[in-house]
Amino acid sequence: MKILITGGAGFIGSAVVRAAIAQGHSVVNVDKLTYAACLDNVASVADNESYVFFQGDICDRAAMDRILKETQPEAIMHLAAESHVDRSIDGPGAFI
Ligand SMILES: NC(=O)c1ccc[n+]([C@@H]2O[C@H](COP(=O)([O-])OP(=O)(O)OC[C@H]3O[C@@H](n4cnc5c(N)ncnc54)[C@H](O)[C@@H]3O)[C@@H](O)[C@H]2O)c1
Repeated sequence: MKILITGGAGFIGSAVVRAAIAQGHSVVNVDKLTYAACLDNVASVADNESYVFFQGDICDRAAMDRILKETQPEAIMHLAAESHVDRSIDGPGAFI
């Protein structure tokens, strides 16, 4: 199955990316690469022919439309998030 995973450079998303590739799925990873991202976590699959990465913001409708049209995923696993509680108190706008 071809799965589009958002936030695939984050803690949870990168684990899902690695697991999906290990189980034989194709993965389209879309991540904005914020302070929370770590591409090292998906380095082990970066050269896999079933893996493709797009740096993109899920809030950018036009960019997401382009990626969806280009990659035609069969499923989406949405793991992109602003996840740090302290930051949500300092600046809730980004979290909303
Ligand atoms: N970490 C946990 O133990 C845990 C447990 C249960 C649920 N969750 C949930 O899983 C989700 C992911 O958590 P995490 O710990 O992996 O967070 P994380 O902060 O480690 O990763 C989030 C990823 O999302 C990306 N991102 C942020 N905004 C984006 C945007 N606008 N467009 C594209 N990418 C964007 C970041 O660059 C980062 O790579 C959250 O919804 C969290 O609440 C996490």
